[in-house]
Amino acid sequence: MVSSEKTGVGILGLGKSLPEKVLTNSDLEKMVDTSDEWIVKRTGIQKRRLLEKNQPLYELGVDAANKAMADAGITAEEIDLVIVTTETPDYLAPSMACIIQGKIGAKNAAAFDLNAACSGFMYALTVAKQFIDTGFYKHILIVACEGLSRVVDWKDRATCVLFGDGAGAAVVGPVEQGYGIQAIEMGADGTMGHNITIPCLYMNEEDAAKREHENKNVIWMDGSEVFKFAVRTMAYASEKVIADSNLTLDDIKLIIPHQANSRIIEGAAKRLGVPESKVYINVQEYGNISSACIPIALNEAVEKGLVSKGDNIVLVGFGGGLTWASSMIRWSK
Ligand code: COA
Repeated sequence: MVSSEKTGVGILGLGKSLPEKVLTNSDLEKMVDTSDEWIVKRTGIQKRRLLEKNQPLYELGVDAANKAMADAGITAEEIDLVIVTTETPDYLAPSMACIIQGKIGAKNAAAFDLNAACSGFMYALTVAKQFIDTGFYKHILIVACEGLSRVVDWKDRATCVLFGDGAGAAVVGPVEQGYGIQAIEMGADGTMGHNITIPCLYMNEEDAAKREHENKNVIWMDGSEVFKFAVRTMAYASEKVIADSNLTLDDIKLIIPHQANSRIIEGAAKRLGVPESKVYINVQEYGNISSACIPIALNEAVEKGLVSKGDNIVLVGFGGGLTWASSMIRWSK
């Protein structure tokens, strides 16, 4: 029974921000030994957006945050907490959350960064729900901003074709009972963490040896291990939140997965037994933007009219850590 009492927790507004600069597969053909055909066939990616050399990442976060607050119809002063998800902060201190809190004027908000790699937005959504459920906070701004181009080895064809930069933001707050987040699944397997690494201030000899070129502070990944984990985990985490919401796949309007590789998404859809038409894919446009993929894709899906009030949607992410997280949301707008 749906009542107008606001005891649910959901997404009140969304925003996204992508840098202007576009790097196409044919641009990459001039940089490393690769081809448009290989990249499209193995990943689905056609282009990605990149920050300019001296452009701070927080600029994208601020832009996405302002759009999300406007979409939610709330002011920066009404935000109680800013959570920024990123694995590529401009500074280790101050946190990206403090930088963005200051720039948007959310002067009543606490602020912290959360790093769960590509699962970051989904982890933050879970954290936000707990604070709002307990009544401790009312409005929480999540800003997922990622500048992967800054930690990619542009001489390593196995990784440099995969990633891009961008930001997505969401205001989370109270919604009508029966709407909003219905179920959550979240997990990690740190014993598999060595499969995707980005060293920061320390690195062991094994990680140093994996990096062929001078710059060692770059992404290294065992693509096929991550691929298998991703297909398995995305199917499991989607099924779990659908079952926990007492629904079946037929009740789901749209699945919005982390956008790492179209073959991973297709593999997970096949394993789940859902038609690809029920799965939102935009990896061809932006590549993998880590934690920003899901809020950007969700924002696009809403803008395209693919999600309306009462629709059941599943958001599902996986990534470094290794981590995974998913949520079943009954759309409330
Ligand atoms: N262009 C051309 N050839 C390339 C290439 C590129 N950009 N990158 C790798 N290759 C080559 C490899 O060197 C290898 O050549 P070899 O057979 O002569 O050794 C061949 O292509 C196959 O490589 P492989 O790694 O087996 O390809 P794959 O089909 O597994 O695809 C990934 C590689 C990285 C696209 C895929 O494993 C993947 O997407 N993994 C998951 C990555 C991911 O999502 N990470 C982020 C998680 S959040």
